[in-house]
Amino acid sequence: MKFPDIVAAVGHTPLVELASISPRPGVRLFAKLEGGNPAGSVKDRIARAMLEDAIAAGMLTPEKVILEPTSGNTGLALALLGRRLGYRVAVVLPDNVGPERQQALRAFGAEIIFSEGRYGSNGAILKAQELAAKDDRYFMPFQYANPANPRAHYETTAPEILADLGGEVDAFVAGLGTGGTLMGVGRRLREVNPQVKIVAVEPHPGEQVQGLRSLADGYIPPILDLAQLDAKFIVRSADAFAGARLLLEAEGIFAGVSSGAVLQGALRFAQRLERGTVVLLLADGGWKYLSAGFWTAPRTEFEQLSTGQLWW
Ligand SMILES: Cc1ncc(COP(=O)(O)O)c(C=O)c1O
Repeated sequence: MKFPDIVAAVGHTPLVELASISPRPGVRLFAKLEGGNPAGSVKDRIARAMLEDAIAAGMLTPEKVILEPTSGNTGLALALLGRRLGYRVAVVLPDNVGPERQQALRAFGAEIIFSEGRYGSNGAILKAQELAAKDDRYFMPFQYANPANPRAHYETTAPEILADLGGEVDAFVAGLGTGGTLMGVGRRLREVNPQVKIVAVEPHPGEQVQGLRSLADGYIPPILDLAQLDAKFIVRSADAFAGARLLLEAEGIFAGVSSGAVLQGALRFAQRLERGTVVLLLADGGWKYLSAGFWTAPRTEFEQLSTGQLWW
């Protein structure tokens, strides 16, 4: 495919069948590989939509600095695409986030403002809100409440899936972070097949899966409507690692930790089906998680790795 610039190249990601992982002969699993986006994740889609909306509405003007609380992927996407569109970008990041994403954010030209790691992404949200309230040079897209987030998935992610599968999708499984992926893709798929099942994957309360949030932590993103979800699976960090390893070893797909969690949720959901087509959204590639150690560690060490907070 040919594009006039990198912003236009966002999306258009491959859909790959997981032929050797399917737990039942009649159930076909397809993975949407979002790691191939320009800044490396599904978040490029929403970053582009939020920036284009804000520019069109006159809210993002050349003297503004884009500010976003993010555990990584949305910051990377805003940094790359924001700079390409001519803006400065600052991100508020928990200080225990892994080294790869800090290095990438700096390489992409973003300023990093740290929040306390032990307060996780909620701590980053509070700090960004305080900064934006004090200084009106900041423009905060705020993915948790921005309607351009689910709309980007309604307008790009879901139509790509539908086109690749000729409209035949029985279930869609994705991780729950802001809820934008599940809401936007879910709404579009339901218009085509009202019976489609929208399945969310959440981390175990008190455990971390980079990019995902446990609703038990108390913050419900404003764009998330829980009534739109048909099922929800809670996945432990150690099982998310095992899922990422399985994707790599069985299918040659190098995806991130949330993708491992999504695979585990999809396998549990697929046990309930006689037949059907299940689409999994794999939000990013494995590159940012190399320092996490589980790629080569024996599985017996996964529990221990998942309780170490160093690289989150
Ligand atoms: C790696 C990763 N997976 C999954 C998600 C969840 O996506 P959403 O915010 O659309 O719910 C995110 C979001 O930050 C992410 O970074």
